[in-house]
Order: sequence, then structure tokens, then C-alpha cells
Amino acid sequence: MELRIYLLYSAVMVLVVAARSSVNGYVEDKRESNEEYGDFLGDEPNDDDTLNDADGEADEGNTENIVIVTNQKIYNVSVGDSLTLDCETSPPGIAVLQWLHNDNIYYLGTIKTVSDTRLNLSKNGSMTISKVTPSDEGEYKCVVTQNKPLTLRHRVVVISEPIIRELEATNNGVVVEGSQLVLSCDVTATPPPQIVWSRQRQGFNENERLRESDGIFNLNSVTIEHAKPEHSGKYYCYAFNGVGNAQAEKEVTVLYKPRVHVHRSAINTAPGARAELQCSAHGDPTPYLTWYKDGSSIAEDPRYVIINNGSQSTLVVVPKADNDFGTYTCIATNSHGVHNKSVELVQRPVIEEVEADGLKLVWKIHSHQPLEDIRIQAFPLNGDNADPTNITVPLPETRGKVYEMSHEVNDLPAGQYEVIVKVKNNKEWSRNTNPVVLNIAEQSMLIQRSSVFRGAASSVAQSTTLLSTTLMYLLIRML
Ligand SMILES: *[C@@H]1O[C@H](CO)[C@@H](O)[C@H](O)[C@H]1NC(C)=O
Ligand SMILES: *[C@@H]1O[C@H](CO)[C@@H](O)[C@H](O)[C@H]1NC(C)=O
Ligand SMILES: *[C@@H]1O[C@H](CO)[C@@H](O)[C@H](O)[C@H]1NC(C)=O
Ligand SMILES: *[C@@H]1O[C@H](CO)[C@@H](O)[C@H](O)[C@H]1NC(C)=O
Ligand SMILES: *[C@@H]1O[C@H](CO)[C@@H](O)[C@H](O)[C@H]1NC(C)=O
Ligand SMILES: *[C@@H]1O[C@H](CO)[C@@H](O)[C@H](O)[C@H]1NC(C)=O
Repeated sequence: MELRIYLLYSAVMVLVVAARSSVNGYVEDKRESNEEYGDFLGDEPNDDDTLNDADGEADEGNTENIVIVTNQKIYNVSVGDSLTLDCETSPPGIAVLQWLHNDNIYYLGTIKTVSDTRLNLSKNGSMTISKVTPSDEGEYKCVVTQNKPLTLRHRVVVISEPIIRELEATNNGVVVEGSQLVLSCDVTATPPPQIVWSRQRQGFNENERLRESDGIFNLNSVTIEHAKPEHSGKYYCYAFNGVGNAQAEKEVTVLYKPRVHVHRSAINTAPGARAELQCSAHGDPTPYLTWYKDGSSIAEDPRYVIINNGSQSTLVVVPKADNDFGTYTCIATNSHGVHNKSVELVQRPVIEEVEADGLKLVWKIHSHQPLEDIRIQAFPLNGDNADPTNITVPLPETRGKVYEMSHEVNDLPAGQYEVIVKVKNNKEWSRNTNPVVLNIAEQSMLIQRSSVFRGAASSVAQSTTLLSTTLMYLLIRML
């Protein structure tokens, strides 16, 4: 191949010399004489050659009147189009040209040195490339072959709208929690495209753009070092470059061990009263749920009914004896692990979350057994006295199984308190509730006090009770 090009090049040089001699015959003659007397006439000031060429080497220099007329240019061309690169010389028709692309010779004179059928040379020196591909991009040189070569440089920019060949993800998008997830968008586009990554999380409608904090971004890939369950969903690669845009999507599933959630961690019931214990689990693949009591499976026990529905399980229990109460455990299993949570079936009162609305506390009591004592304990947060203040709450008048309670904490000195609720039924005391913080300010107490009298009928009734109690006390003292 090298040899072939060399031979071609030699052939062209011969052609060049031949062309010169025929066109500038008289110059050749002169040159010959110069060569003859070169040593003597080297410093001859009247000699045209030495005027321009001090080193006396490129003797033809001043005799070559060939100039390149075309200016260098940047050609923007779309894939598939045809492109004509000009190299107009003057005087026309005599120059022997070479065309090079990124220093690969395409033409030596009129001889094509590559077997690319898309190339064509015109008489005026321009080279045409049909059906342009991205690999045609780069620098093109048109060289006028002579002792002192002239070079014209063109730059070709192949523009193409982004084409996404593939959006790839680690293990085809199925990864285990904690492992690495790499998404790479195989896109071709000129100029190079910008890529925007986004995802639509499983079960969500909106498409959120991935941010710096979501992963490590490279040229056309994004790496999430430790995949999490919430990373499951559809990933999008959107590429744009001013010429056009393209988008591809890929489904990603992050497999993870189950996580069990119980709706209530304690359920009150009484012998003979039906109770439903509910648990649900997340996990991918969808976990399988079973129930245990005191370390052994109750799946086959005819005393229990288990209703499984997808990722939810309900255990129906009708306790008969005391040993039917206790701890029931919901166990979720999938190929990536096991997780459990327990529900206590109890006879003590169960208090649902206490909430504070201003100075009013609201809570719910579950107790099949009759209630005997309800109290609020207020622990001062910023006092030296750690002893709680006990506020007794009147028992509900009617018996039930669920009691909706509310009580306004009016009788505490100003300060900050941590407040818990305790309830006793005929079996046991309840467990302590999570503390609620109450801020009792001087002003808010005044507002609260006045609002009591303007407030609801029940509050007024309560205050009236207070008033009558005070009157009674005064009356007794007076007697
Ligand atoms: C060629 O494209 C580039 C962007 O790729 C642009 O900046 C330039 O102006 C374009 N030139 C012509 C002659 O269209
Ligand atoms: C090259 O040019 C010649 C003459 O102009 C024409 O016949 C031929 O089809 C062209 N070839 C290509 C590939 O354009
Ligand atoms: C040279 O010829 C080709 C077609 O043969 C033409 O497309 C091109 O414009 C010409 N170039 C100049 C500079 O005239
Ligand atoms: C299962 O759960 C779904 C939704 O949580 C509910 O629509 C469906 O009725 C349930 N099926 C049974 C048999 O309980
Ligand atoms: C529930 O999980 C804990 C902690 O992983 C484990 O010690 C216990 O044995 C599990 N309980 C059952 C019934 O599998
Ligand atoms: C409130 O009751 C607790 C026990 O339930 C007791 O330790 C505490 O001293 C009581 N506080 C007051 C001020 O009587």
C-alpha cells in the first residue's frame, strides 16, 4: 500500500515537472543555465531567482505563478448530503493538486488513492463527497504540488441530530439494593450533544430531573453508587445538540429485602372478642407473608384465620384464654431477605397517638374492659422539680370499646411541659404514650381562660362546675 502510494506520488511528480516544462518552456531553459553556472552566479543580484530565494533551493519559486484563489472555509454538512470542497487555482487548469483528509491522501493529481466510490474530482479542482457520513469530518487539505507547495485547508463539520443507539443499564436494569447502577446513553450526534437525565419513580407520575446529588455524571453516563428501592422506575436519557434531539427510556428495578409495617403495634381485645391484626410489606420481589406466635408458625392452626391480599395480611384472632394474648409476629420473606414486626394482643388499654391542639389534648382509648382511671401527667421541662403534676380526667359516662377523649390543660403554671396520658382498666395500666410538649405562656393562659367563657357549651359547663366547686368550698369554710 505504502509502496503503491509512493509510486503514484513519484508518477505525479514526473507529471508536474513535465507540465511545468511544457507551459514554462523558456523558464526551464533559464533554470538549466542557472544550474550550470550556479556556483558562480549565486550572488548575482540581477538574477530573478536569487532575489526571492536566498538559499537558492526552490529555484522555481518566482517562476510559479500558480496561486490558490479559494479561501479556506468551514463546511457544515448534514449526514447523507453531498459536499463539494473547492480548490480553485489560477491560472486555471495547470495546477496538479493533492487532496488529503486528516493527512490521508485521497487524490494525487487525478489519481484516486482510496477506493471510496463517493469521491469525485472536478476539472476545476474541487472534490465532491457524496452521501456524507460522520467519519468524513475533519481537516481537508488541497496541496498544489510544486517545489514550494501551497496548501489550502478546509474544515468539514458533519452535523447530525442525536441518534440514541441504546440506553443501557447495569444487568439490564435489574439490580440489588446497595449495588452499583450505571446507566449509559449510547448517542451519536455532531456537534456532541448535551444529555439530561431524568426518572419517573415507580408509582409516581412526574418525571424528575436527576441532580448532582443523585449520582456521578460522566459524558454520557450516570452512576448511582448504592441503589435504593426508591430508585426503581423509568429512566430517561434526553440528548440535544441544536440540530435536533432524541430520547430513550429504560426500566430499572431495584430488588430489595422486605420491610414490614404493622398498622398498630398493640391491639386491645377481650376473651371472646374478635381482633384483626394487620400487617403489610414492601419488597421486590413481592414478599410472602406469614404469622408466628411465640416462635412458632400459626399458618396451619385452625384457631386463626389469615387473609392474604397481595402485600397485605390480616390475622383474625378470637382469644379464648389468657395464653391467646401475647405477641404475634408478621414475617415477610423474599429472595433478598426476611423482616418481621410484632403486634401485641393485650387486655390493657391501648392509647392512640396523643395530639395537642393549643392547650387541648386529644386522644383515643381502645379498651374492651371498663375504664377505671384516666390521668394526664405533666413533667415540667425547665423547672428543678421533676415530679409530674397529675391531672385527673373524668371517666367517660357511657361504656364502649373506643373512647374519643379531649381535655384542656388549664390549671398549670406558665412553662414548658412534657405531657403523657395514662389509662387504667380493670386489668392493667396502659403503656405510657409518647410525650407531647405543651407551652403554657402567661398571655396564652389569659387568652385560653377568656376563650373558655366565650367558647363551646361543654367548656362553659366545665367552668360552671369549677365555679360551683369553689362556692361549695367557700360555703363549707364559712360554716
Ligand atoms: C457551522 O456550525 C457551527 C456549529 O456547529 C456554527 O457555529 C457555525 O456558524 C456554522 N457555520 C456555518 C457556515 O453554517
Ligand atoms: C463523478 O463525476 C462523473 C462526471 O462528472 C459522473 O459521471 C459520476 O457519476 C460521478 N460519480 C459520483 C460518485 O458522483
Ligand atoms: C467546480 O465544479 C463543480 C462541479 O463540477 C462545482 O460544483 C463547483 O462549484 C466548481 N467550483 C468553482 C469554484 O467554480
Ligand atoms: C385486596 O386489596 C385491594 C386493595 O388494597 C382491594 O381493592 C381488594 O378488594 C382486596 N381484596 C380482597 C379479597 O380483600
Ligand atoms: C424477628 O426479627 C428479629 C430481629 O431480626 C429476630 O431476632 C427474631 O427472631 C425475628 N422473629 C421471628 C419470629 O422470626
Ligand atoms: C403523680 O403521680 C405519680 C405516680 O403516678 C407520682 O409519682 C407523683 O408524685 C404524682 N405527682 C404529684 C404532684 O402528686
